[in-house]
Amino acid sequence: MKFLDNIFNKPKLKNEQATVIPIVRRNPGPNDPFFDRIFPDNFWSSMDRSRFITHEHSMLADEPVFEWLIKTVRPETIVELGSWQGHSANHMADICKAEGLDSRIVCVDTFLGGPEHWVLGDTIETMRRRNGMPTILEAFLGNTVARGNEGRIFPFTVDTATGWQVMRDLGFKADLIYVDAGHAYHQVVDEVHGYLPRLNEGGVMFGDDYYFEPVARAAQDMAKHYGFSLGVLQRRKWVFMTDRLMQNPAPEELGFEIRTEPYPD
Ligand SMILES: C[S@@+](CC[C@H](N)C(=O)[O-])C[C@H]1O[C@@H](n2cnc3c(N)ncnc32)[C@H](O)[C@@H]1O
Repeated sequence: MKFLDNIFNKPKLKNEQATVIPIVRRNPGPNDPFFDRIFPDNFWSSMDRSRFITHEHSMLADEPVFEWLIKTVRPETIVELGSWQGHSANHMADICKAEGLDSRIVCVDTFLGGPEHWVLGDTIETMRRRNGMPTILEAFLGNTVARGNEGRIFPFTVDTATGWQVMRDLGFKADLIYVDAGHAYHQVVDEVHGYLPRLNEGGVMFGDDYYFEPVARAAQDMAKHYGFSLGVLQRRKWVFMTDRLMQNPAPEELGFEIRTEPYPD
């Protein structure tokens, strides 16, 4: 049974021996089957760091929105759909740390870019392709290590439709879900249907790019479909409003309004 020996007693990777990165562990809980299977204890320490890239790139212009939501919801678990090089995920992780929260952030992204990255301007260059493949994941990992957030942030390298099915099958739930992957109407609609059942009671789903008409229409239609008021902040972030959010309104400077029609109106 030599071949089984090789499978079950795998030699340790060099990196595994060299670095031990503690990952955020919580008391036993309902998300254990998901984390134990997809992100075991050696997930970060077994990585080959020689290919990591450090390149901070912000696509945000409204970072305070995250602070309002994290302070109000105090999430144990966050899901981000669409992470690119990790700016928004690391921003959320930093807020959680500052708030004394041991939150874990699962980032669902193919790390292959969306149509806009392949088509618009010179964004194709920012994917730094190696042998034809984007190296977005390497930048995401490098940026996360540079910010000291390894062990808190977990890249789940699948498309968003695969992501919610795996989470459903492993009984995974989150307290905050941030939608910033595909920006076509049907993608946002499918993601809301797929991920809303993954929210814990009192959890909040929100998303980016409300000024983009297909996203605004999808957010409006889904809010109506599920019976939420739709909050919009700084004309950019959309939020399915829960009772807790209604009772803890966003600070005035975030330009909060309840929208009944998408932009442009
Ligand atoms: C706008 S970027 C995310 C930006 C990031 N939230 C930030 O602010 O730093 C969109 C990301 O979504 C990913 N993406 C697009 N469509 C996807 C899909 N169907 N499944 C998984 N990832 C997708 C792309 O690879 C890209 O990294």
